[in-house]
Amino acid sequence: MLRADNIHKSYNGLNVLQGIDLSIAKEEVVSIVGASGAGKSTLLHILGTLDVPDQGRILFNEVEVSSLNQKKMAHFRNQEIGFIFQFHNLFPEFTAKENVCIPALINGDSGAESRAIELLNILGLSKRADHKPSELSGGEQQRVSVARALINQPSIIFADEPSGNLDSQSADELHELFFDLRNKMGQTFVIVTHNMQLAGMADRKLEIKDGTITS
Ligand SMILES: Nc1ncnc2c1ncn2[C@@H]1O[C@H](COP(=O)(O)OP(=O)(O)O)[C@@H](O)[C@H]1O
Ligand SMILES: [Mg+2]
Repeated sequence: MLRADNIHKSYNGLNVLQGIDLSIAKEEVVSIVGASGAGKSTLLHILGTLDVPDQGRILFNEVEVSSLNQKKMAHFRNQEIGFIFQFHNLFPEFTAKENVCIPALINGDSGAESRAIELLNILGLSKRADHKPSELSGGEQQRVSVARALINQPSIIFADEPSGNLDSQSADELHELFFDLRNKMGQTFVIVTHNMQLAGMADRKLEIKDGTITS
């Protein structure tokens, strides 16, 4: 589904990524591990078209997306890609349901609200739909981010240390949710994590070291 060919990225002479090749198949859960500063977030942003490589290509279903113009790339990203970050990035003044709707409203999608409610139900948050982020636990906030990532039925979800800010029980529940979504809905995930248990549960674990993938 997704392929990266010979990705290079430097910042001010610092060679962060030095020739990354990888492929992600539909319905795979792939984990990415590596030391702090190894380039995990940089790679995830490039794979998700939030950033562009200095050299190399990103192909989605054999179509090169890394060379699309900004407008087409933003459209592609909104349609096909979901993101989950370490800090939930929910809008504090909006309710859970409103936060989940936002990526769909950007598309002018009139079915957003009913789908948001359905997703919140699936994720065990039916009673939390009208709560603001500050009224939710860390684990609940992160499940709202998962619902938001799912609202446009993306082909692939990128998660950057999604449980890095959670207690171990909430982290375990979140990890279980990822595998549930893969097993029941065929959702594809690429997850950067320091959690070795999660990394080990994935179908494949990739390690970034010295700018390349070593495993
Ligand atoms: N926008 C940026 N400008 C300058 N340097 C950056 C930028 N983004 C990341 N870096 C640097 O690139 C390296 C890799 O960063 P990052 O991908 O965030 O690592 P990781 O997620 O593995 O901890 C770090 O040394 C970081 O300081
Ligand atoms: Mg990072």
